[in-house]
This record gives sequence, C-alpha cells and structure tokens, in this order.
Amino acid sequence: MNWDIERAPKIPIYQLIMKHITQSIQNGQLLPGEKLPSERKLATLIGVNRSTIVRVMSELEAKGIIKRQQGSGTVVNDDRWGLSQEPIVDWHQLIKTQQPDEHRRLQDKIKARLHDDTVIDAYTGELPLDLVPAFALPQSNWRDFIEADKNQDDLGYFPLRQAISTLVAQDYQFTLPVEHLMITSGGHQAIFLIVQALLNSGDAVAICQPSFLYALNLFQTAGIRLYGVPMDDQGMRLDLLETEILKHRVKLVMLNPTFQNPTGTTMSLARRKALIKLCQTYKIPIIEDDAFGLLPFDKRQNLPPLKKLDPQNVIYIGSLSKIIGSTTKIGWISAPPAVLEKLSIARQDLDLTLSIFPQVLANYALSDITFQDKLASLRAKISARMTYFFDLIGHDITCHRPAGGFYVWLKLSTDTLTKKQMDAFLGVGILCLPSFIFGDKTPAIRLNIARLNFEEITRLVETLQELKQTGLC
Ligand SMILES: Cc1ncc(COP(=O)(O)O)c(C=O)c1O
Repeated sequence: MNWDIERAPKIPIYQLIMKHITQSIQNGQLLPGEKLPSERKLATLIGVNRSTIVRVMSELEAKGIIKRQQGSGTVVNDDRWGLSQEPIVDWHQLIKTQQPDEHRRLQDKIKARLHDDTVIDAYTGELPLDLVPAFALPQSNWRDFIEADKNQDDLGYFPLRQAISTLVAQDYQFTLPVEHLMITSGGHQAIFLIVQALLNSGDAVAICQPSFLYALNLFQTAGIRLYGVPMDDQGMRLDLLETEILKHRVKLVMLNPTFQNPTGTTMSLARRKALIKLCQTYKIPIIEDDAFGLLPFDKRQNLPPLKKLDPQNVIYIGSLSKIIGSTTKIGWISAPPAVLEKLSIARQDLDLTLSIFPQVLANYALSDITFQDKLASLRAKISARMTYFFDLIGHDITCHRPAGGFYVWLKLSTDTLTKKQMDAFLGVGILCLPSFIFGDKTPAIRLNIARLNFEEITRLVETLQELKQTGLC
C-alpha cells in the first residue's frame, strides 16, 4: 500500500489522507477487514503529526468507513465494504441519531404590493389561477369523506398513494412501491418531517447554492447547519461537495436536481450518477426534492430521478402543488419503511394528522381520465410562456433557459445586488426574489415566468431593458 499523499494547496492534509484511504478501499488496494498500520506508524509513513492521523481515523470511523476493534487495531469496515459492491446507506444508524430580519422585511414589502393590479408578479412561486387545471368534481357528500377516512393509515389515504405510484410509473417509468409512500401536507411538510425525524441540532446538511431551502426557516429553527455547494450548468459541483463532506461530517445531501428552485437548472445524467457514487462512497443519504419534476417542456428529454438510479439510498419528495395548485397541499415521501415509520411518528408528535379532504380531492384529480391531457396542456402553456420570454429578452440580458418548471434565474450585470436595486425593481412594479434570499451573493433575481401572461411578459422585458439602460439590472 502506497502512503505517498500528494499535497494540494488549500486542502487540509487530513482531508487528503481521508480521501486517499477511501479511494484505496474503492479501488481494491485496501480490502474489507484489512488492518491499517497503527496511528504512530501511519504518522511516520505519511510524515504528519500523530494528532492528524487521530482526526482522520475518528472521521472515517464516524462515516463507517473503518472500524476500531479492541485488541486488533483499526480495520477497513467489512460490514460495509464486504457485503455489497455498492455500499448502501445504513438507515438505522441515521434514524438512531436522531431568515434574517432584512430578508423578511423585503418579502413583506413585496407582499404588500401583491394586490396592486399594475405590478408584474414574478415573485409568487405558484401557478396562476388561469393555469390551474379545472378538474370537475364528482357528486359526493359528507359521508363519502368519512367513509374514505377508513382507508387512511399513518402513511395516508391508500387510494391516493396508489394513484401517486401510478403517476410516477407513467411519467418516469419506475415504481415507487405503495408501501414505501407516505402522503404529506405538501413538499414543505415532507422536508419538515425529514429534518425533525432524521436530524439533530448541530447536524450538517449539504445543499445547492443557491437553493430555495435557504429561504425556509425550519433549518435554523432546528439548529441545522446548511453548507451551500456552488453549482454550474450541470447542477451541484461534486468536487466542492466532496470538500464539504470531508470538512463537516455532512449527514444528508438535500437537493432539487430537476428544474431547480431558483435557478431552473437540471442536473445532467452524468452528474446524477457521479453524485450517487460519491454519496455511496461516504455513506450519505440523498434527499431528492422533485417538486417540479412533472413539468418538463419536452418529455422526451426527461432525466431519471436520483431515486430511480439509486432506490436504496435516496429519499424522494414529490408534490402536486406545482401542477394542480398549492392549496391542495399534497406531497409525498418515498423512503425505506423503517424511515417512513420514523417520519410518521414525527408527524404524530406534532399532531399534524392529515385531513382526508385534500387527499380525496387530489385522488379525484389524479384519477380523472383527462388528467394526463390536462398535465400535457399545462406543460405546453408554461413552455409557450418561457419561449415568448426568451424570444423577447434577446442576448443582452443573461439568463439560463430552463428545460421545465417555472423559474428563470436572471444574472444582473451589476457587481452587487443592493437593497437600493431591489427597491428600484419594486418601484417599477417588478416583484421578484433576489439571489441573497437563496444564500447566493452573486447578483441575480428569480423570475416566475409561468405566472405571467404574454402581455405581462412583454412589459417585464421592456422594463428590464429600461433598467439595464440605467445600470440597475
Ligand atoms: C423545490 C421545492 N420543493 C418543495 C416545495 C414545497 O412544496 P409544497 O407547496 O408542496 O409544500 C417548493 C415550493 O415552492 C419548492 O419550490
């Protein structure tokens, strides 16, 4: 075994040693159960202090990569590396362990303008009323709902779970087994329950930077440390994710790989596969939030969800909010049954039992024979709005063109994004969210193009072009 560690500027040596050991296990130079040299010997072989090796070993042990055995020293963890070539997350282990004011003020100012008819609301993250599919409701009475309640258990209304499983199978050609599916009160509750049930105060979670998760208070409230990993046009940068994993004992990676909120970026297939491999290596579960996944502009370009690529290690979150409106508040989590049990207990602890009413209504919508046609029509309408926007905006304003979802991430040509600029946007009646709300310092704004009709898009583009002339955009 070669113990020459190539030094790299700015990366602490203990991280380089951890990476070297992990890679040596992966490429078979170190075998499951194989004994590692003593700490003192390793320190001499590598030429570092013993305390550095002590840190490396305790971090690797915490990640389950090595085991310390009394009397026989430190060995490569054969429970993990010996049983399966593809290391899987030990969910049981995970289960065991269990906005600044100025942002709020800005959002309050924006919300105060929402009822003004003259503004362009590219701020609200929801479908506009005219795009919400109009499903007819069957004749039913109060007793039907009470009757339906008998079909609900801790995981939710059984027919709806079946309908969601069918929907996912139709759209993604993979199965979320009904017994692995739990209905939640929207995607938001799904995230909340995961934080409550699987994380402890002080835990580290890696997320994209920017991410809409920065805008949620629930992480702060639960004392969770969020580590933002910058993105490129293929999604989260994995070299930087690995650095965060090595630095902070990241417990979960949480991301929205398809039509990301706020940038609209979709993680490429190659990046998806590499992300899964990386997380398997470090035994870190992935939380995939697929709130926009049902809204590709071209279904042929659909990429497989991470859950389809790695059903064992990915917890999957879906939601109907972006396709039938958020008032229904129906979301779901697909996870191993042991994890679901923990999540449903967390929900009971909070006394957030699910009402049968939205579940039955959502089931009507999903079971409607026109559902797929209505969904296709919704995609086409949003796509037409997006195309119209990009035709008008031209090349002098930089923004990434999304392949689905609602959002355009407009990069500003100014050096910073100041409150004065945001006031200028408000002043000309453009309601939008700035990049700093999403944990990003590069100057940009999120625009919900799906929300705007053609006339509003025309006005938006004209106003943006005027702002650009004045150097504010
Ligand atoms: C990426 C993403 N996930 C989850 C949610 C929450 O969804 P819901 O409205 O179903 O609670 C949102 C809401 O905007 C979102 O953008």
